[in-house]
Parts: sequence; structure tokens; C-alpha cells
Amino acid sequence: MTSINSNLIFFVNGKKVIETKPNPEITLLRYLREKLKLSGTKLGCAEGGCGACTVMVSKFNRDTNVVNHFSVNACLMPVCALHGLAVTTVEGIGSTRTRLHPVQERIAKAHGSQCGFCTPGIVMSMYSLLRNSSKPSMKELEIAMQGNLCRCTGYRPIIEGFRTFTKEYETCDMGDACCKKNKQGCNATLVDDKLFNSSEFVPYDHSQEPIFPPELKLVDQYDKESLYFENDRGIIWFRPTQLHQLLEFKQQHKTAAKIVVGNTEVGVEVKFKHFDYKFFANPSHIRELNELTVTENGLKVGAAVTLTQLKNFIDAKLNCNPIEISILDMLHWFAGTQVRNVASIGGNLMTSSPISDLNPILLAANAELEVQSFDNGKRIIKMDENFFTGYRKNSIKDNEVLISILIPNTIDNQHFVAYKQAKRREDDIAIVTAAFNFIFKTDTNIIEKANFVFGGMAPTTILAPKTAALVKGKEWNRELIEIVNQSLVDEIPLSFDAPGGSVLYRKSLTLSLFFKAFLKISNDLEKSQNISILNERERSGIGGFKTLVPKSSQLFEKVSSDQSLTDPIYRPKVHMSALKQATGEAIYCDDIPKYENELYLALVLSTKAHAKILAIDESEALKQPGVYAFFSAKDLTSNQNKIGPVFHDEELFIRETVTSQGQILGVIVGEDQNVVQKAARLVKIQYEELSPIIVTIEDAIKHNSVFPGYPKFLINGDVDKAFNEADHVLEGEIRLGGQEHFYLETHAAIAIPKDGDEIEIIASTQHPSEIAKLAAHVLGIPNNRVVCKTKRLGGGFGGKESRGALVSLPVTFAAYKLNRPVRLMLDRDEDMMITGTRHPFLFKYKVGFMNNGKIMGCDLKVYNNAGYSFDLSFSVLDRAIFHFQNAYKIPNVRIEGNCMKTNMPSNTAFRGFGGPQGMMVGENIIRQIAKKLNKDLTEIMDINLYNEGDITHYNQLLSNCNVRRCFEEVQKSSNFAKRRNEIAIFNEKNRWKKRGISIVNTMFGIAFTALHLNQTGALVHVYVDGSVLISHGGVEMGQGLHTKILQVAATTLKIPLEKIHIQETATDKVPNTSPTAASAGSDLNGGAVLNACKIIYDRLAPYRENYPNEKWEQWVYKAYFDRVSLSATGFYATPDIGYDPSTNSGHPFNYFTYGSAVSEVEIDCLTGDHQVIRTDIVMDVGSSLNPAIDIGQIEGAFIQGYGLFVLEELIYSPTGTLYSKGPGMYKIPGFGDIPAEFNVSLLTGSSNPRAVYSSKAIGEPPLFLASSVFFAIKEAIGAARIEEGLESDFQLLCPATSSRIRMACKDNITKKFDEYEESKHKNMKPWNVMP
Ligand SMILES: Cc1cc2nc3c(=O)[nH]c(=O)nc-3n(C[C@H](O)[C@H](O)[C@H](O)COP(=O)(O)OP(=O)(O)OC[C@H]3O[C@@H](n4cnc5c(N)ncnc54)[C@H](O)[C@@H]3O)c2cc1C
Ligand code: FES
Ligand code: FES
Repeated sequence: MTSINSNLIFFVNGKKVIETKPNPEITLLRYLREKLKLSGTKLGCAEGGCGACTVMVSKFNRDTNVVNHFSVNACLMPVCALHGLAVTTVEGIGSTRTRLHPVQERIAKAHGSQCGFCTPGIVMSMYSLLRNSSKPSMKELEIAMQGNLCRCTGYRPIIEGFRTFTKEYETCDMGDACCKKNKQGCNATLVDDKLFNSSEFVPYDHSQEPIFPPELKLVDQYDKESLYFENDRGIIWFRPTQLHQLLEFKQQHKTAAKIVVGNTEVGVEVKFKHFDYKFFANPSHIRELNELTVTENGLKVGAAVTLTQLKNFIDAKLNCNPIEISILDMLHWFAGTQVRNVASIGGNLMTSSPISDLNPILLAANAELEVQSFDNGKRIIKMDENFFTGYRKNSIKDNEVLISILIPNTIDNQHFVAYKQAKRREDDIAIVTAAFNFIFKTDTNIIEKANFVFGGMAPTTILAPKTAALVKGKEWNRELIEIVNQSLVDEIPLSFDAPGGSVLYRKSLTLSLFFKAFLKISNDLEKSQNISILNERERSGIGGFKTLVPKSSQLFEKVSSDQSLTDPIYRPKVHMSALKQATGEAIYCDDIPKYENELYLALVLSTKAHAKILAIDESEALKQPGVYAFFSAKDLTSNQNKIGPVFHDEELFIRETVTSQGQILGVIVGEDQNVVQKAARLVKIQYEELSPIIVTIEDAIKHNSVFPGYPKFLINGDVDKAFNEADHVLEGEIRLGGQEHFYLETHAAIAIPKDGDEIEIIASTQHPSEIAKLAAHVLGIPNNRVVCKTKRLGGGFGGKESRGALVSLPVTFAAYKLNRPVRLMLDRDEDMMITGTRHPFLFKYKVGFMNNGKIMGCDLKVYNNAGYSFDLSFSVLDRAIFHFQNAYKIPNVRIEGNCMKTNMPSNTAFRGFGGPQGMMVGENIIRQIAKKLNKDLTEIMDINLYNEGDITHYNQLLSNCNVRRCFEEVQKSSNFAKRRNEIAIFNEKNRWKKRGISIVNTMFGIAFTALHLNQTGALVHVYVDGSVLISHGGVEMGQGLHTKILQVAATTLKIPLEKIHIQETATDKVPNTSPTAASAGSDLNGGAVLNACKIIYDRLAPYRENYPNEKWEQWVYKAYFDRVSLSATGFYATPDIGYDPSTNSGHPFNYFTYGSAVSEVEIDCLTGDHQVIRTDIVMDVGSSLNPAIDIGQIEGAFIQGYGLFVLEELIYSPTGTLYSKGPGMYKIPGFGDIPAEFNVSLLTGSSNPRAVYSSKAIGEPPLFLASSVFFAIKEAIGAARIEEGLESDFQLLCPATSSRIRMACKDNITKKFDEYEESKHKNMKPWNVMP
């Protein structure tokens, strides 16, 4: 009989934690942040999809006497599961006050931390790896990072920092191109290539790591005792140690009893689907469920064995059979390391998801399951077509527990292959999975038995028994392909409106994956049976892509030898907060400790896209214990309720009619997040649905749903005349979807009422002045009573420029009304649902050009999907119109711009602000002309590229125009012409893999197009000890603004950087500031700080002159005693800009940032998968204030742009429901997506007289360069289409997802679905639409 304990005991960072009232509903993350006040571990998604919450868990294995360390997602780990374990958080390994851990030091000093919100999680993933392997390989590093996302850095600097821990570090990956071998390379006199110096890093000494708590080793009671915890709501956590206890519990509670191992399914169900389970049983200490044994019949895997344990076991086996190899391969792509470390094979099987990765393999292998119940004992179930009985259902009974899974042995003449196709290769759920099991008659190629299994094609994982029966007895030859294809088409139907969308793609994949299996098995048979089935070109279809070991170079201008060594300007200084970010000491909005009387707020959101509100009933919600108040439109005057960044055309709380899902109807305020979120779901809303529901741009055009004042026109020259004179006129269309910002820190705000009529707002906003202004308006008080402060943001990218009002204003209103501090940090799904995205765009154009390729004129219609309110959509449209020609001169234009009103969330600013979407027009036109004239693309670029002194279509004269230099240099550095020829040879040789290479240029105008925003202020204080405190109008969101400002101030005041500090951005320090946006942060704020610093520097001139042998501190000291003011305000307004649309004159931009890029890709024509092989960028950033930061911005923007153009897809239903509400469904690029070779160089010898210290703005301009990947993919698809005799010019929607790539590579398989035309399904709405 084992004892039962009701105390939870575990260790955190070496300290013992005893919880006498453990709560089964609390995750480790909440426990760390709320109870232990360890806020270093961050909340990014709460669904295991971002890795921001990564910590290390250590466990003593009494069988092996070894301590196992593994990374986990604290957001999914139930705190109750930690009994007897040790947790290490980012705070536990080092701090800036004591000693930095080498992992923390290296990520910071290698410039791998920008906003820093992802950094603690990445640090802990790396730390966990090092605890298992003190000198890991690059492969191990790749795997360790699979579960972490970063939205800022583009990953390259993180990998470079961590590469220094690896075995491979000693050898340079650049091979013969290594700068050490190449005299002309990176050590040339003008150019520097070292952003950090690894010889300065503290060596990593494994032996210095903290020891595992001895008590946990010595006291075996921790493992022997059963646990039974119950909270106030009667929720129970039971950890039995004997199987019969578990069976009895399951018998008693049946479906209400959840057996929880990794909690990676159950945790998501509870958090986002609001399932309310009452009984949890954790089988981690039941031997039968945790054993791995090799038996006579196969590998027996306990149901609670984790995926990592399974992988390690198979890895270590001497002879793996093809089923085990398929499992091993599949596990590489299954979730991320943190999930695999805790998730169980049993949990995967029992969830019975149709897109499970393992179930197709287990079903195809006819695995045997051992199940047991308390009443009826054991039984064995063979997995066959009867096993899965419905969506997430199987034939295991409610009172049964899955004990183990037998993965059968294979025989000699058996072939087994499995595939997974996902949107993103790493850490993504499948679109379609397939597993094929063929047994041949001994020593023949006659099929004796076959299993075809598919996931993602029905509500369950399915077999195709008819096809299997059909092929029985058939010979394995090419005829088989058509027999199988035809049979699968009939046997696996998928309705046009099937959940999951991409119906044609999924149908094509079933055949494509079989074809891949055919190639693979044929290849094997050819070897074993000495027969010939395949031709050489076909073999390219066999394999998929593997993440390549990344290599890179970063080149930038050397600092002049005349510059003093202490002068920090132009040097790659580390981000001023990077070390704090790496240790978890950096404070973000929600890290601020709770105020004593603080309340939490939950939003009540509309669930209809277009409806009249008939009634709101909050009575049930208000009855809940801990709920204090409900506020809605009835609590505000109609004027106070009207808000918006420029036009007040939206309501804070919707009064009568909702025009989008996710609009705010009211707020519930109460004791804590759990209480208010549950109560908010109890508020009953009665709607009367209205029509139409307009989601897409095409819908909006059909209904003529356009904002007042549109269309607007920009006309320059005479387009009709140009078309008449042109040798050719072509038409084209470009369509782009939106893009979610996916900053790692969601919107957050805390409002604190003060002194009766004052209020302080701490908000994660890019625009504190606007928040304060709107808060004053909503409260009906003067602006001088409201202060808004922002310390730092966990990423912004434009998403926190204006939409932050949706969080800050309700919080402020509730705080003011209740006279208590109120807080809200949006959950990831809320954030994605309500805060808007990058604008989807549609462009229709007609272009006239000459025989030599010279463009004469363009007639363009532009439509953006603005959503339900104006927000900044008019400005976004303006920028798209200004930038549509990109870097190419188009002398005659007629542009019609339309802001379309839809029932979508209000779309908003996003890095590039319409520019990248617009530039797609220019790049498309250039390519279309090249194809039409059968000329080299670079020739057409060359003839149209802007030159010094050219005038744009908005009549701005170009001076210091460096785009041609970038264009020429990147062709040289990337070896463009040579590689293009090599690619042509590669494509000749390979039928199913194609490569493409492409080049793009960019020219991005710098300045807010709204003139008044081009101003800001600064406040500089010098204290008597010589230390300097700067406040300015800009917000630090990872872009390194504060660091650049410190460099500007240090250089101007001629003092060391370390003497200067920036605390926060606050509206009581610098008023009436502009948003930190439009890439103009360092231009504007740098200008204002420069101005203030110069004032102080001049005031100290007499002291420098009179006391030349003394130093800054003495001059300051003396000035103070002379009663000289040591404080100054600075101001900057960008000179000589301003554009008048009525006359198409004046300068909208201060200057331009230029760049060019070349990217090469390889695609898999059968699956639509792709890999970016190499990218080279040359960027003109003037004299870079900080090359490390600027290169970081280039790489980060490029990878974000890669997301926009290739990977990221918003999934909306035709009735306006957003399905892609978290990292599970919305895929931003991960570590494995970066170009395998990534070279960035800053143009040397460029200067810019129009910005501070000759620098240039950099935040947005490089983003568009990622379209080089889009166009390279298009080239590769073109090569595939030529094989089928099709035009290589075709329309490719953006993003170029795997689905679009596959379907554009038309072949015999895709042709089978031609009958599946939309016209046949006129009355059926597809499951999803492109907004
Ligand atoms: C970020 C993320 C990424 C993911 N990626 C993938 C992926 O790439 N591929 C994929 O297939 N899945 C993926 N999943 C889904 C999930 O991780 C897997 O299904 C995992 O194997 C579940 O295991 P678990 O131990 O965490 O299950 P739990 O959440 O602990 O349990 C899941 C279900 O199984 C039941 N159960 C568990 N053990 C038993 C048993 N012995 N007897 C009876 N019932 C039992 C539970 O009661 C529960 O209903 C992902 C999930 C997340 C959060
Ligand atoms: S917060 Fe845990 S993985 Fe995102
Ligand atoms: S630094 Fe990684 S998300 Fe910002």
C-alpha cells in the first residue's frame, strides 16, 4: 500500500517549494509568474507554440541513477506534475548583478536579442541542451531550437552566438570562400566582418552548473507516494503509483477522467476550447505505462512514454526496421523539442486527431494496442479500419486505459514509408500525412498485401482498403501508378467546403505522396532486385528537404582610423538591454508586480461579423464571485465613445451594430484573469444578423463598399498617349493576403488612478502620446491629467501603433470608474482576433513599354482591405501608391486608389505600411516585360532603374540615388549570372525538384506621409555626478532605438556611452510625440537628442576652454556650482518635406533607403515544399550608426518579409471568423526557415546629409527584399511548368504557400482535379477565403 500525499513539493532554482494547497488548474508558468514572482519566463501564446515560456525540468531516474534534464513549455506544464522534480528558470542560471551564464552572455553579445521577449525561452532551450551535451553539434542545436520562435532577429545572430558552443565552431563553414583564405574577402581595408568577438566570451565550464537538489535523489518517497490534490472548485489531480489505482479511477469517472501525460492536448483544450474537466490522473509513475521493451513481436511502447524517450530508444537500437525508421523521421518534424519532451505516444493516439503524425504510421503498420479496464481486464486491439470511429474518437472504451502499443516487426520483403506535409516544416501540424506499407511475395515485385493510410483527408485517419485490395497480386511497375491514382481519387473524396480548406491541394497530395512512395520503393527494389523502373531525372522526387547547417556573412564599413576609440558611433554596440533581456531581468508591461488593490479586465467580444445588437445581459456574469463591474456603451456619452487615431470613426464599446467579429461590446472587471474571463463568457448578447457580410476585397468591390472620399487619383503625365506610343501593352493583376504582426508580447496595459483626477497608464504601445490623448477624451478630462509610460515592447512592427487603444482605453476607463488599478494582457487568440493585420491588397494594372523594355506608362487600380474602420488605412494606401513603381522609373501614370470597407477587424500599420505590397507591382511588371520580350531580367531592370536626378511619379527629385550601386554589387557578390546558368543545368537534370533564382531591388521613402507627424522632442538631464538621463519621444521595441540614441548622445557630448541612460518613454517628459513608426525613430528622436545635447555641450564650452586638463565630471560639477542649467529640451522637425496631392507636388519623403537582394530556392514539385538555399543582400544605410543593429534589422525584416510573401496565411471563413488565432494555425518563420546561406553587406562609401550623423532609416526598407524568395519560387515553378509545355508566366497569389506552389506545378496529378472547378460548386462556400 502506498501513502497518499496532498502536499506538492518541488524545487525552483535550487529552492524548495512546498505547496500545501496545490491547484490542478494552474500551469507552471502562472505559478512562476504569479506565486513565485519570477517574471523572466514569458507568456507568448499559452499553447506550446512559441517557446517564450521555456524552462528546464530535471528529474532523477532511480533505475539508471542519472539526472535527466529537459526543456518544457511552462505554459502547458501543470504545476501539479512537478512533484519531486527540479525546475530551472532563466533567473536561476545567471543575472547581470551576479554572474551571467555563458548562454546569456553569448546571445546578448552576438546581437541575438532585439525586443528580448523570446530571449529567456531561447536561453533556456540552449541551456537545457548544454546540460545534456556540453559540446553539442550543430544538428543538436537545430533540434533544440525547433520549439522557439523569434519575430525580430531573423534567427541568424542567435545561431551565430550559440554556434560558439558547438563542436563545429573551430571549423569555418564558408570553405574556400572563408575570409581567412580569401585576400579580397572580408578583411579588405574598407570592410569589417566582425559583429562580435567570441574570444571575449567567458568559456563554458560544464562543471560549474548548479547541482541537482540532493534531497530529490535521496528521498525516494517522492516517487513512491501517490498524490491527491483538490482545489476549491473540486478539481482533482491524482497521481497513482499502481496500475489498479489508475484503472479504478478511470472506471469511476469514465470520460470525466482525463489521463494527462504531457498535457499538450488537454492543456490547449482547457485554455482555448474552455473544456471544464474535473478529474485528472497522471500515470507518470505507473511502470506498465512507462516501459520500452523489445519483444519477440516488435517494440512495445508504454502509452505514457514520451516522444523524446521513444526517439532516443529507436536511435540507440542497432537494427531499426522500416516502421521504426519512419517513426524516427516523423518525430523529427513532430512539434518542437519542448512538446516532444513531455508529450506521449498514448496521448497522440488517444486524441485521435485526423492530422496526427504518428497515427497513420501505427495504422499502416497494424500496431497492436493493449488496453485494460478495472472491471473487464486486458484486451488487445489491432489497429485497422475499424479503430477510429469518428472525429477524435476511437474504439477504446470510456472505462479503459491504453497501456501500451506494439510496433510490429517487419519482414524482409516489406517496404514502409511515411510522409507529412505541413505549411512549415518544423513545429507544425500536418496538412496531409500518409503512410504506405507494402509486402511483396518473396523475392518478387508482386504485391501480396498493401496498406494505404492518409491523415488530413477525413474526420479520422483513414485507410484506403479498396485501393489496397485492387493492388493485391499486381506487379510493382509504372502501370500501378495510374491504377492507384484513379482508385484513390474515387476512394478518398473531399468536399469542396471541407474543414481545413486547400481541398484540391490535399487531394493532389494523396496522389503525390503515393508517387513519392512509388519512387522511393522502386529505387529500393532496383537495388535489391536488380531491375530498372526509374529514369535518373525522376529520382529527384524521392526525398524531401532537411534543414541545412546555416552559414552567413555580415560585411560593413570599417570605422575610420581617425575616430577616437572611445567614440561609439558607427560601431556594432550591443543593444543596451540585451543582457537584461537574456537574464529575464528586463521588465515588460505585464511583468510589473501586481498593485495591492489591482483588478483584471476581460473583453466581451462580438461573435458576429455584421449584426444589430438587440440586447446585452450581463446579470449572470455579475453574479459570479470576484466580479466587480460590467461596462459598456451605456456608460459613455456618444462623443466619448467615439475613437480613432485620426478620424473618430469607431466606437470604444459598440452601441448598436457590430461590423466585425472581435469588436468590443463591453468589459468585465474583477479579481483575477480566470474569474473575469469565465464571467465574460456568461454575458449574453442577442443579435439580429445583417447582410451582407463582406470579408474579401472582391466582396467589397461587388458591393461597392468603399470609404467616403474614395476612389482617389494620382495622375502624372499622359498615360493614354504613352500607351499609344508604346510598342506593347500588357495587363496584370496582383493579389496579396494580409499578415499578422505576431509580436511575441501581446497587447497589455495597466491603468493606475492617482490623486483623485489623475491617471497613469503603462502600456505596450508604440504611441504613448496618442493613448494619453484618447484616454483623456474618453474620460472627459484634460490631457495634462493623463500620463502614458512605456518601458519597452516585446515587438511592435506597427501593430502597436494605433490598435493599442483597444486595450489601454477600456482598462483606463474601468480604472477611473472604479478608482482602482486595472490590468489586461490579451490572450494570443484575442490579440490575433481583434487588433487587425497588414492590409490585403489587390492591384490591377496595364503597362505600356517599348521593344527595348523601357516602360512608358502604367494605369493602375489599387484596392486595400481596410476592415471596419479607417484607422491608418488611407495612409497605407498612399504609401502603396507612392511605392508601386518600386525602383523603376515610370514616366506616365494614372492611379486610382480605393480603401475598401469590410466586416474584418480594422487593418493597420505593419512594417512597410503598404510599401511592400505596392512594390510588388513594379517587380511584377519588370518580369512580365522580360518574359514578353524574351530578354534577360537584369537587362530590363537596368534600363528602367532610377538614376541620380530622376523625378518620381509624385514629382520628387532623386539625389544620392544608390540603387544602381546596390543592384550591381549584389549581382557580383552573389555570382548571379553564373548561378543562374548552374540552375538551368540542375533543372535539366531533375524532374521533381526545381531551382529558381531571382533578384529584386528596393527604394523606400523615409518620412511619415502625414506631415505633422515628422516632429518630436527630447529631454536631456545631466546630473551633478556627470551621469546623463535621456528621455525622448521614441519607444524601444527591439529595434535598438535607445542604443542608437545613446551612441548619438555619447558622440555629441563626447563622453563614454556608459555614462548615459534611458529609462522609459513617458508623455510627462516629452509631450506631443509621434508614433515610433515609419522607420523614422532614430532620424526624428536622434535629431531631437542631438539638438538637446548640443545645447548642453555648448553651455559647457567655457569649462572645457578654461579647464582643458579636466574631464567631463569636473566641468559638470563646476557648471552646477555656477548655476548653469544642466538640463535641456531638444526638438526636431524634418525640414523641407510636405506633399500636396491636389497638385502632385512637394516632397512626401525626406530621402530614400535603397537595397537589392538575390535569393535562390529549391522546390519540391510534388509537395510544394521549398527551401531557401541562399540569399545575398546589399543595403544602403548611409553611414550606419550601429552596423550590428542595422544588420539585425535587415535580417529580421527579411525573414518577416519572407513570412509575408511565402509562409504566413490568415485563414478566414467566408462569414468573417478568423481560424488562424494562434501559432498552431498561423505559421511565422522558424529557425529552420532562414536561408541556408545568408549574406548581408552594407554599402560602403554612402552618406546621407539628411539624417543624424549621415545615417539612414532601416526598420522597414529591407522587408520587401524577401520578395526575391517569392520570385525565385515563381522561377522554379516556371521551370516545372515548362516540363508540361505550359507558360512559365502565370499568376501566383501571395503568399506562395506550399499549396499554391504545388498547384501551380501542374502535372498529371493536378490535372485529375481539373474537373473540380469552382463553377461546379457555385452554391457551396469554400471553408476559407483570402481576405
Ligand atoms: C505546440 C504543439 C505542437 C504539436 N504538434 C504536433 C505534431 O506535430 N503532430 C502531432 O501529431 N501532434 C502534435 N501536437 C498534439 C499533441 O502534442 C500530441 O497529440 C501529443 O502526443 C499528446 O500527448 P500528451 O501526452 O501531451 O497528451 P495529453 O494532453 O496529456 O492527453 C491527450 C489525450 O489522451 C488521453 N490519454 C493519454 N494517455 C492515455 C492513456 N494511457 N489511456 C487513455 N487515454 C489517454 C488523455 O486523456 C487526453 O484525452 C502538438 C501539440 C502542441 C501543443
Ligand atoms: S507561451 Fe508557452 S509556448 Fe508560447
Ligand atoms: S527578440 Fe525575439 S521576438 Fe523579439
